[in-house]
Amino acid sequence: MKTPVPDYLDEVLDSLRADTGGANADYIPELAEADPERFGMALTTTLGRTYAAGDADTEFSIQSISKPFAYAAAVIDRGLDRVLDAVGVEPSGEAFNELSLEGGTHRPMNPMINAGAITTHALLVGPDAGQDDRVDRAVAFFSRLAGRDLQIDERVCASELASAHRNLAIAHMLRTYGILDRDVPSVVEGYTRQCSILVSVRDLSVMAATLATGGIQPVTGERVMAPDIAQHVMAVMAAAGMYDAAGDWLTRVGIPAKSGVAGGIVGVLPDLVGIGTFSPRLDSHGNSRRGRLVFERLSRDMGMHLF
Ligand code: DON
Repeated sequence: MKTPVPDYLDEVLDSLRADTGGANADYIPELAEADPERFGMALTTTLGRTYAAGDADTEFSIQSISKPFAYAAAVIDRGLDRVLDAVGVEPSGEAFNELSLEGGTHRPMNPMINAGAITTHALLVGPDAGQDDRVDRAVAFFSRLAGRDLQIDERVCASELASAHRNLAIAHMLRTYGILDRDVPSVVEGYTRQCSILVSVRDLSVMAATLATGGIQPVTGERVMAPDIAQHVMAVMAAAGMYDAAGDWLTRVGIPAKSGVAGGIVGVLPDLVGIGTFSPRLDSHGNSRRGRLVFERLSRDMGMHLF
């Protein structure tokens, strides 16, 4: 006999499978080739129990979902004040690949957009760290959050790097303003490698549950970050995780979340649960379309809206 929650999760996926709206990301050629029918979800409670349905173990590149977790690592490595000197916490209301710098300081408006995430990546480890140090830090930190050794998808990384002109342009602008103080191509390559780390929805749900507990990985029991850092990261996700759809998402879904262009979405409810979804077709904001519909269902059916 099945337990009620997996039955419910299967039913949610089945009810949304017919939706074929949206399209795979195409500005990263390798993502355009992904099977658009893949569909999976997982929930991990703060007690470390995971409920999963559909393609729960299919791996895909984490992409922008790396941003909140790399931000947490940067705050651990450099302290919040140093990170806030370089990146703000205001929603930009613009697409993820806009420059979105604050007037005056020229800081990127938040760490969830590309400009802010490239800056955050450059802060990892310490002032003298090289590209390999920063990438190793991201892979090791995400692996501790997921509770298993994660790998980089070299094909996705190479595919994105071959046409990374926009991120290079953003990083060059940041360098002219003194926000970045190191070699631009190496920072963009390191950031792209961070975005190419492979995860499943099961991994994402555990990573998010680690934020939900206030920093303790609920399966391994390891404290991965201090409670105030987990709180700060969840708040930034709520304010800016869904880019120009952040306000619409927070009012309609009410779950702090972050999406990635490979089709993943991670969501977190403090003290309760981490959620991961995966479906490659994206809506006009660059968020997974069926993933969004899953989150709307969970919010409504399970009373998961924060407010
Ligand atoms: O930098 C980029 O454009 C990609 N590596 C990540 C963008 C992304 O995932 C945006 N999210 N929806």
